[in-house]
Amino acid sequence: MRLQRAEILSRERFGNHLLLRYRWNGCIPQPGQFVMVRTRSFAAALDPFLCRPFFVHDYDGESAALLVEIRGRGTSLLAGEEEEVVVSEPLGRGFDIGNGPVALVGGGVWVSPLKLLSRRLAGRGIPHELYLEIPSTAPEAYGDVISRIFPDADLVPTDDPERAPEKLLARVGDLSRYSAVCASGPLSTLAAVKRAACEQVCVQLAVRERMACANGSCHGCAVPVWDGGGRTYARACISGPVFLAEVLAW
Ligand SMILES: Cc1cc2nc3c(=O)[nH]c(=O)nc-3n(C[C@H](O)[C@H](O)[C@H](O)COP(=O)(O)OP(=O)(O)OC[C@H]3O[C@@H](n4cnc5c(N)ncnc54)[C@H](O)[C@@H]3O)c2cc1C
Ligand code: FES
Repeated sequence: MRLQRAEILSRERFGNHLLLRYRWNGCIPQPGQFVMVRTRSFAAALDPFLCRPFFVHDYDGESAALLVEIRGRGTSLLAGEEEEVVVSEPLGRGFDIGNGPVALVGGGVWVSPLKLLSRRLAGRGIPHELYLEIPSTAPEAYGDVISRIFPDADLVPTDDPERAPEKLLARVGDLSRYSAVCASGPLSTLAAVKRAACEQVCVQLAVRERMACANGSCHGCAVPVWDGGGRTYARACISGPVFLAEVLAW
């Protein structure tokens, strides 16, 4: 994995989230691909030791953006960085863009890759609709920013995490009117979308297994999959992070 320095063009902090845009003239990211990121502090103190994975949230031809929830050491350092980030090329396999119509379903910070996906679908004139869960526990600023980033999305407020996937899917309604469903959200949402849609339409799910090397060598990101009738494991960093729902063995 080759890392390069990239100039930070803008940083917007809202609650415990960060929208970070950096100059990017490398490979064009595909929706659902991710990048590995670290800050310059690594060079001085190997801190943090591992890069952190983030979906490419957006790309406009000159800059790429990340939508980050600040959780621990790596993301806190990222939030404090003003000048540049150290970032990989876009990695992994993203969403396969068909002919539509497509339902984009997501929740939490995992909605991130759906922005680039909707931009790409719009660019190709492919009809699509967005359904995004907004948990009541999220800071108000989060809901405001999500509605600004996804102006055409149907935002679904939820107050019970256990019933959130059910509520989200009720809003999506009859899945048979779509040719594909692309989902990126909490595991419970991905599992519910898989259960509800698998036999009716093509379903693609973006998983978020933790990653260390992101090049297939550590096997830390293994996900259970069906292969040739048997259950085995695939490495999400090179075979994913987007998988066909029927391939995932959960
Ligand atoms: C393919 C991929 C894409 C991702 N895209 C995004 C994104 O677009 N935006 C975003 O905010 N985050 C994303 N993540 C998660 C992000 O990588 C982690 O939140 C980040 O690495 C945390 O780093 P940290 O040093 O701040 O926190 P750490 O100290 O490493 O962890 C803080 C807390 O977060 C938990 N955590 C760390 N990674 C994950 C994970 N993958 N799933 C669930 N819990 C986790 C830890 O268990 C711990 O409780 C993605 C992860 C993957 C694998
Ligand atoms: S992160 Fe090391 S094999 Fe996927």
